[in-house]
Amino acid sequence: MGSYKIAVLPGDGIGPEVVAEAVKVLSIVGKKFHHSFDLRYADFGGAAIDSSGVPFPPATQEVCMSSDAVLFGAVGGPKWDTLDPAIRPEKGLLALRKAAGAFANLRPAKLFSELADACYLRPDIVANGIDILVVRELIGDVYFGEPSGIEVRDGERVGFSNMIYAEHEIRRVAEVAFETAMKRGKRLCSVDKANVLAVSRLWREVVTEVAKGYPEVELSHMYVDNAAMQLVRNPAAFDVIVTGNLFGDILSDEAAAITGSIGMLPSASVGGANTPGLYEPVHGSAPDIAGQNLANPVATILSLAMLLRYSLNLSAEADAVEAAVAAVLAKGYRTGDIYRDGMKRVGCTEMGQLICDAV
Ligand code: NAD
Ligand code: IPM
Ligand code: MN
Repeated sequence: MGSYKIAVLPGDGIGPEVVAEAVKVLSIVGKKFHHSFDLRYADFGGAAIDSSGVPFPPATQEVCMSSDAVLFGAVGGPKWDTLDPAIRPEKGLLALRKAAGAFANLRPAKLFSELADACYLRPDIVANGIDILVVRELIGDVYFGEPSGIEVRDGERVGFSNMIYAEHEIRRVAEVAFETAMKRGKRLCSVDKANVLAVSRLWREVVTEVAKGYPEVELSHMYVDNAAMQLVRNPAAFDVIVTGNLFGDILSDEAAAITGSIGMLPSASVGGANTPGLYEPVHGSAPDIAGQNLANPVATILSLAMLLRYSLNLSAEADAVEAAVAAVLAKGYRTGDIYRDGMKRVGCTEMGQLICDAV
């Protein structure tokens, strides 16, 4: 029996819809396992811009930093796309990650055997299952590198973003990746573009240095263009992937498609000292389906399972949530994104309720 403070940031678009289902699941977990969860809702992203002019207001920051973990939906949408980039919803998300010091973003891409029919790849390619963990560096790289901007030079506009990593930033995320690989299949593939980029040559050097402390882990290096191809050609070859912020963003969406839908992919962002872990689906605010009860809440519900496991140390509770998701999929219930002929089509709220019932 425990008592926990959880910051809840629904955000924009389908964010509030999928977070509402995860919160339903959390309340069932609380009842079943006798925990009390103090849910502390706060404005974030476009919703916060509308209410207070900025995407990550100080009050939201205070709520997050004084909580045990942060559960987050998604931010952004056409309504805010024309704003000054400095106050756009996505900037709020980057600021939250930075404030939490969450340098390691864990994105597990697992093909539920129940969902093999939803996978975009040939059955023989996925016959042995897919279980990849992308460890994406989250608070460095071209996302935060200075200088960055658009300015006029010699009479024309030039845009620039600096891809930059200091060795301590590479080392700490590599350590997380090696530690994680030790608990899994002990194979780590570091993805970079060292044939062209100086920043990637340093990345490769530092990862190779860190490897000396993990002799049991089989380390390989791959260029990002090849990695993008190998992920669809032979995904079973991967166990843990470690890569920078931009490459990790792209490769994790690709890994999501392998597992059937981006609506299935959870994430945990960790690493800060004395700061809460952040838990969010990998997908965005999906403006095309927002407000129609069409969103798949599973990515957010599985993110909740990661929250229970990593931030609250409640592994039986996390197992119960993951097993409930698998059980509901096994019974053939599908949201539109993973629907195939002959299955039972349900909406976001029904999917959430089915998972609650299964917990
Ligand atoms: P997206 O992930 O929102 O949507 C891509 C496609 O996947 C869409 O067709 C959408 O309908 C579908 N999809 C996404 N999540 C789904 C779910 N749970 N169930 C069913 N289908 C789902 O990416 P986008 O369209 O490139 O971006 C839309 C907005 O979201 C942009 O403003 C972008 O900046 C923002 N975004 C935010 C985050 C985040 O908050 N972490 C992540 C990615 C994109
Ligand atoms: C993600 C998103 C974000 C990112 C955007 C919205 C800032 O695409 O979480 O994958 O690029 O990190
Ligand atoms: Mn992304």
